[in-house]
Amino acid sequence: MTGPAAPCPLWLQQRFEQSGGSVPFSQFMAWALHDPEHGAYGSGQLKIGKGGDFATSATLGPDFSALMGCQLVQWLRALGLNHPTKTLSIVEVGPGEAELSCDLNDHLAEHLPDLMHRLELVLVEINPGMEQRQRKRLGRHQDSRNSQPLLPHRWTSLSELKASPVIGVLIAHELLDAFPVERLELVDGQLRRQTVHLHQADACGVDLHWGTEPIPQALQERINSTLSATQIALPPPDAEDGWTTEWHDACASWFAEASEALTAGHLLVVDYALEAHRYYSARRREGTLMAYRNQRASQVFLVDAGQQDLTAHLCLETMVHQATTHGWTLEGQCRQGEALLALGLAERFSSLQQLPGSQLAELLQRREALLRLVDPACLGEFRWLSFLRFNPLVPSTGTGERSQFLQEPSVINASTPSRP
Ligand SMILES: C[S@@+](CC[C@H](N)C(=O)[O-])C[C@H]1O[C@@H](n2cnc3c(N)ncnc32)[C@H](O)[C@@H]1O
Repeated sequence: MTGPAAPCPLWLQQRFEQSGGSVPFSQFMAWALHDPEHGAYGSGQLKIGKGGDFATSATLGPDFSALMGCQLVQWLRALGLNHPTKTLSIVEVGPGEAELSCDLNDHLAEHLPDLMHRLELVLVEINPGMEQRQRKRLGRHQDSRNSQPLLPHRWTSLSELKASPVIGVLIAHELLDAFPVERLELVDGQLRRQTVHLHQADACGVDLHWGTEPIPQALQERINSTLSATQIALPPPDAEDGWTTEWHDACASWFAEASEALTAGHLLVVDYALEAHRYYSARRREGTLMAYRNQRASQVFLVDAGQQDLTAHLCLETMVHQATTHGWTLEGQCRQGEALLALGLAERFSSLQQLPGSQLAELLQRREALLRLVDPACLGEFRWLSFLRFNPLVPSTGTGERSQFLQEPSVINASTPSRP
């Protein structure tokens, strides 16, 4: 069982009572994160960034977005040539605080001035509280004197995009790790699904407790078909009772929907992901689920529902299988450290030396952020995956050239200033 029981807030008690008192962990996680009134993202109370509950690469400073922006420039140029009259959309799904969207906007304005009149920024956010914050953030960006002009931008849903698909680039940066997961536990040699249920603790208190139930047949069939296609052993042969893991059941339908939102272009997924032999290792007894609040990680998942982030790593092979059976072709994948080096991180690091002495604090902060982005013990282990979407009716919709982030990093020019 995963952790202790926890007191249940009143709003959640009502959700449980309406659902018969016991739900799969995935439903608990969906409420805790995405309940529109009380969920951590739904209500917009979770703060992303250095002073918030947790930071993402994009919220550490503008260099990450500028490097990702170099990749977008390559893709958008090629798409622009292949579709000379069409609007090109940069679609960010799950934009969080909209830092990435704002910084990409500025990078594209600076590096693609000739295509600016054909670009639009599309934000897809299911949580009303986060969308409100994004609207404010883009508004502030528009008003800021140091920013580039904002591209035409709009908020929409994947289902609306399906009805009117676009050409361009879809970005899922730290999105899939926020999807509710099924938790599976080995009990008496059998995998079962973890549940959460209400328990009347005493006259005045109601607690949340863990339980398990047999895996429903439809879910078991989806798991079996992925396992047989990927040759993954789940549970691993030497796992012991109590061994727990996660299954990202919601990703398959998301990939399907996302593929219909784009007629041609790329999907860039950037997220925590592990190969199956590490993800489903017998030694990883507690799975990958983590809770975050005020920059602190814990494995206490049932407490303070709606006030802490819950997130689980992705299994690389499972995710690729789900994407490639739902409309996408994998172009390639690599670690974030390799991707950012291929996009020019070393040159950017060196060029920081040219900042005037009066900007020493900025130099130190940006250097530290760049190092964190590639540090294998930190964000460097993230995976970057490029998937392609081709329109069979238009013969040449690919970019033709291999994506820059998947290429070997170029050697730094000898004249580039070196570190002191
Ligand atoms: C971890 S944050 C990532 C934020 C941002 N991409 C970044 O890197 O800073 C996850 C974001 O995805 C949103 N989200 C979660 N599930 C979603 C879904 N199915 N569709 C769209 N947005 C979603 C959350 O509300 C939140 O804005």
